[in-house]
Amino acid sequence: MIAVYPGSFDPATYGHIDIIERSAKIADKLIVAVLNNSAKQPLFSAQERLDMLKETCKGIDNIEFAAFSGLLIDFAKNNGASAVIRGLRAVSDFEYEFQMALTNKILDEKIETLFISTSAQYAYLSSSIVKEVARFGGSVSSMIPDAIEKRLLQKIR
Ligand code: COA
Repeated sequence: MIAVYPGSFDPATYGHIDIIERSAKIADKLIVAVLNNSAKQPLFSAQERLDMLKETCKGIDNIEFAAFSGLLIDFAKNNGASAVIRGLRAVSDFEYEFQMALTNKILDEKIETLFISTSAQYAYLSSSIVKEVARFGGSVSSMIPDAIEKRLLQKIR
């Protein structure tokens, strides 16, 4: 099974990395796909986000990285994927995720959305929280890997 794990990853956190590691054990090939046309104003360019992900996940063999724009389902189809992976942190994620999964199902019924629950210690995490804590000088070392923290601190200085 080829699976796509899409997201903004602005920047990737330990929560994302946890989902990547666990999904890579289920999928034959996992494509981590960085959204390039987000309505959000990203702090990092798509290339920077890709570079950080690649650096962090370099120990995992069956993984590829790509940036995409347009519809996720088109990206999945063009890359031969039969599943989209999403992480669920809390009940509050459910409504949005369910809406996306149903929309994607209408767009292509052959591609399934698989939800993986985040590990409990990362259930509170989001990229915005990490950026906010870092902006105000708080420690983010328990939230993101050192290499990403270094880049984040350079960026916001
Ligand atoms: N650990 C920590 N944080 C997590 C997480 C996890 N396991 N899973 C999600 N998050 C956080 C992210 O950091 C992000 O935080 P932020 O809002 O503070 O930046 C937030 O949850 C949601 O981000 P993400 O998972 O990156 O999703 P997204 O909403 O930015 O993008 C796409 C979701 C890319 C899948 C979706 O927008 C998409 O498919 N876009 C393409 C257009 C399309 O096809 N649209 C039709 C489908 S409805």
